[in-house]
Amino acid sequence: MDGDCCLTMLNPAVVSIHNCVLVCRNHLTGNLGRTDVASVTPWLAPIVWEGTFDSTLIDSIYKQQNITIATTVFALGKYTRFLKDFLESAEEHYFVGFRVHYHLFTDQAEEVPNVKLGQERYLTVKKVPSMNRWQDISMSRMEILEKLIENELASEADYIFCLDVDTKFYGRWGVESLGRLVGVIHPWFFNVPRFIFTYERRPESQAYIPAGEGDYYFTGAAFGGSLEDVHHLTKTCREQMNIDIANSIEAIWHEESHLNKYFLYNKPSKLLSPEYLWRDISMSSGQVKIIRLSHVAKNNAEVRPNL
Ligand code: UDP
Ligand code: GAL
Ligand code: MN
Repeated sequence: MDGDCCLTMLNPAVVSIHNCVLVCRNHLTGNLGRTDVASVTPWLAPIVWEGTFDSTLIDSIYKQQNITIATTVFALGKYTRFLKDFLESAEEHYFVGFRVHYHLFTDQAEEVPNVKLGQERYLTVKKVPSMNRWQDISMSRMEILEKLIENELASEADYIFCLDVDTKFYGRWGVESLGRLVGVIHPWFFNVPRFIFTYERRPESQAYIPAGEGDYYFTGAAFGGSLEDVHHLTKTCREQMNIDIANSIEAIWHEESHLNKYFLYNKPSKLLSPEYLWRDISMSSGQVKIIRLSHVAKNNAEVRPNL
């Protein structure tokens, strides 16, 4: 018996206050909440897990706003093979009922599959030059996104998400994910101590994070937010990567290392749990109750242009 219950046995007035608190709490939260995971950061940003939000309520709030979510995806070289599953599954699960504009960057427009899009869902294909190193393809996304936001998105979108193409949706990814600056906790590092995080540890790189610093380890495969904030993020990462190039150093996990450095000094206003980018659909974890987006298994040696 805990102290609270002892008190309620002794004093009927406390019993009624106690019951009132329980009723109020249920009324306010609709029984929402998780005790097995943290759902808020030390700077009071929400961490979105299944069971921490009411999807019907949150949909109705955003339905009153006339929003467009720009979504960028890159498919160069053999990665065009991932497009069909990515797009088809997104049409089933990703911001269903909201306006989405996919911006697809590829070196082979003829390989883009013809996927039937729902109402108010748009796809624009943009040609980019091919590159010889997968690391360069991955890193070059920052500058391309920076320019896309500058040149095209201001008049057409409210939010942007930038996603890896070697992924597939299995569950709802909706407006609960929207925020000013949104990072996704890397699926291999949500339940490990900080010293395990694979931040860049060489002080010569602009992505350097010293031991003892850093809050979370974020994936480079999914991030988003308002156009203004993501523009600042992509511009900063592009600048920092250029300084690294001039100093003949490449961060250990490329743009992901720079993204983690950025998030250390520019705290995300919302974090998405690894439900929003899981390792592989076949793997499980007690805390991940629903897999919304998952990396698909791929043979790196076969799909990448280099090792
Ligand atoms: N990418 C691409 N072609 C390539 C290599 C990478 O289009 O040859 C793009 C693609 O969008 C991919 C992203 O860069 O999802 C990141 O690379 P990758 O998924 O291989 O990195 P990983 O998630 O395995 O670390
Ligand atoms: C891997 C992932 C890499 C990088 C790395 C960080 O699982 O494939 O892209 O994020 O973790 O340690
Ligand atoms: Mn990937």
